[in-house]
Amino acid sequence: MEIKKIMVIGAGQMGSGIAQVSAMAGLDVVLNDIKDEFVSRGLGVIEKNLSRDVSKGRLDEAGKEAILKRFKPSTSLQDATDVDIVVEAAIENMEIKAKIFRELDEIAPEHAILASNTSSLPITEIAAVTKRPEKVIGMHFMNPVPVMKLVEIIRGLATSDDTFNKVKELSERMNKVPVEVNDAPGFVSNRVLIPMINEAVYCVYEGIATPEAVDQVMKLGMNHPMGPLALADLIGLDTCLYIMEVLHDGLGDSKYRPCPLLRKYVAAGWLGRKSGRGFYVYE
Ligand code: CAA
Repeated sequence: MEIKKIMVIGAGQMGSGIAQVSAMAGLDVVLNDIKDEFVSRGLGVIEKNLSRDVSKGRLDEAGKEAILKRFKPSTSLQDATDVDIVVEAAIENMEIKAKIFRELDEIAPEHAILASNTSSLPITEIAAVTKRPEKVIGMHFMNPVPVMKLVEIIRGLATSDDTFNKVKELSERMNKVPVEVNDAPGFVSNRVLIPMINEAVYCVYEGIATPEAVDQVMKLGMNHPMGPLALADLIGLDTCLYIMEVLHDGLGDSKYRPCPLLRKYVAAGWLGRKSGRGFYVYE
């Protein structure tokens, strides 16, 4: 059965991006969050992105309107009764995700795939709270979703080939490049990326260089589009710390210990762009 209707849970940075690329791929999209204002804010970001596409000549007004018509705002998981797939992009907390997946398992149709955009939590454990672990999968998008080509597709222990193939096909319809990985802490993307960011924080912590200098080295020396500390601010320092903790706990190796400076910034509420201050200050 072709995937025609999607529910995206979480209308924040990642969820609104996933909702946008879904609607642009022609899917009907239920955009869900816990409060109306969160959903409205997410839809506002999508509208702004589409308007920029119009001003750049990549989309016409009629196309934009047609895309916007595909959205249905939602604050209840009960709206999942007729969807073909759910992509969960709520906060990174196992208890909250388990609660959502347990409820979705009761509400979503039998054929529906339940995917998580988790950046590091075990798909196998999320799947285990449902009665359909073969239809549970990781669909990990990168930030900013409308721009980044990768979707890391994570197979849980019980994920079926049919589920994997459908999600791979859907990612391609969204104009993304799917890459298959197995379920392990941080998968591949964050197993490699976040320790690099953590090491960049250590360079600042140990007084080896300023944030600007660390970022310049990686931009000009390694051709990264942005330096690791600017990227950490984009991802969110709380998210970076959380992923380091998942790697540290899950792999049990001291090389994954989070830098104390990262902990200090998070404790201070310096979370990066979203809080106006991280390694850099944002107006
Ligand atoms: N939403 C939509 N479009 C966006 C955007 C956003 N949030 N941010 C930038 N863009 C678009 C811009 O509109 C622009 O498009 P056009 O030129 O076609 O108009 C294009 O992207 C380039 O943007 P800019 O010119 O403003 O800036 P840039 O060339 O420096 O690119 C960037 C910005 C795409 C963010 C680039 O710096 C980059 O690729 N950075 C690295 C991003 C990255 O590594 N992401 C992965 C993070 S890890 C993750 O997400 C996983 C996890 O679990 C933590």
